[in-house]
Amino acid sequence: MPEATLHFPPDFRWGCATAAHQVEGGNTNNDWYAWEQGEGHIYGGQKSGQACDWWRNAEADLERAARMGHNAHRMSVEWSRIEPSEGKWNEAAIDRYRQMLRFMRERNMEPMVTLHHFTTPLWLAEQGGWENPKIISRFERFAARVIGSLGEFCDLWVTINEPVLYALLGYASGSPRDEMHHQLTFPPGKHDFDLAIKVVENLCLGHGAAYYAIRHIQPHARIGVAHNMQYYEPLYPRSLLDRFVIGRRERLMNRSGLDATLRGHIPRLVGSRRVRELANTSDFIGLNYYMRVVLTFDSSSPGTLFSRQVFPPGAEISDLNYGEVYPEGIYHLLKRISGYGKPIYITEIGLPDADDDRRPAFLVTHLRQVWKAVMQNIPVMGYYHWTLVDNFEWAEGWNLRFGLIGLDPETQERKMRRSGELYSEICKTNALTSDMVQRYAPELMDSLFPG
Ligand code: FCB
Repeated sequence: MPEATLHFPPDFRWGCATAAHQVEGGNTNNDWYAWEQGEGHIYGGQKSGQACDWWRNAEADLERAARMGHNAHRMSVEWSRIEPSEGKWNEAAIDRYRQMLRFMRERNMEPMVTLHHFTTPLWLAEQGGWENPKIISRFERFAARVIGSLGEFCDLWVTINEPVLYALLGYASGSPRDEMHHQLTFPPGKHDFDLAIKVVENLCLGHGAAYYAIRHIQPHARIGVAHNMQYYEPLYPRSLLDRFVIGRRERLMNRSGLDATLRGHIPRLVGSRRVRELANTSDFIGLNYYMRVVLTFDSSSPGTLFSRQVFPPGAEISDLNYGEVYPEGIYHLLKRISGYGKPIYITEIGLPDADDDRRPAFLVTHLRQVWKAVMQNIPVMGYYHWTLVDNFEWAEGWNLRFGLIGLDPETQERKMRRSGELYSEICKTNALTSDMVQRYAPELMDSLFPG
């Protein structure tokens, strides 16, 4: 068979995504650090510790990324470093971020910078964090400061990472974890759904305030939110109850963040609140996609909106039951969110796969779906794989390995994985070819390149 090539658009962005607390190491001044010290919060009692040592030497990995052919990188800045106590700014920390961004620019990697990726400075957490509406003006001030200092190198900003998921994991998390059935819980570890919805509201308003502050300082900035979206399907498509639970989940998890920051409707327990100034405060949509979730109605689970997740027979499940791999899901979500009429960045996508025996297939099957969306004129601007190097995976500690490059956090030794080599070929050629599939995932040849 002659070689087949799926080309991506000429200015397509290829890179990886990272978050400050997961890679920097030595972050001791935020709520996550405090949380890590608590009994039973992190799987196996692990700690972020030195993480990937990026605060000292992000450059070594960024250089690797550049050599792999990345022309973009998404990272976040750590608020607790930049504003270690209320109203006090740490110029050395800001300079360190300037260095990192300059380094990327010199290697033709376009930075995308996230302002809030799950961590909150301790001084703010002590004032109630995102429960306290005071944080909205604090976040606005922080955004202005960051853009004022880093705007020379960056004009592509994510205000907040996964606002809805963040609120739910921290404020409405499920049962306490146990070894078999561990459930992700974030600080402050509350169990109050009404409060979580209030936190979503504050996050949306914080985003809006930051949006205008950034726009004022940098009129050409492109500003958005990274939304976590799962592809929901009912176990029994003809069951009204299953469709009901899907509808509610879909509305809360996939649509509420978009409706808030594009249409100005902030979700409420019932209905929504209209905040006119929030409408159209996203120049692009950031999509973080990891899995399909099949649900069925379950009257005994009010805490999960009366739904229960099911893995259908034959489902492909990633390490530690993290989720169901489902490449078509990204296509359906891209198609759906294209209805909002904004450019789309895939701000995160990836697979925990310590052995790296499934990540190459994950890459090619998902990229095939992204390509299909691009061919249908859905404006997908870039793909940021989660992640470059194994990092501290929040409540899962070091147990989930998402890196294209493996890391031993003790020795800081790195090892390029086969998936990293494959991704590098894709980035360098701006394409996915049948020859790559033949070499990295031959079992997929027939389904991806029929005939
Ligand atoms: C996303 C988070 C990111 C990482 C991946 C696996 O929800 O944004 O920090 O934890 O999941």
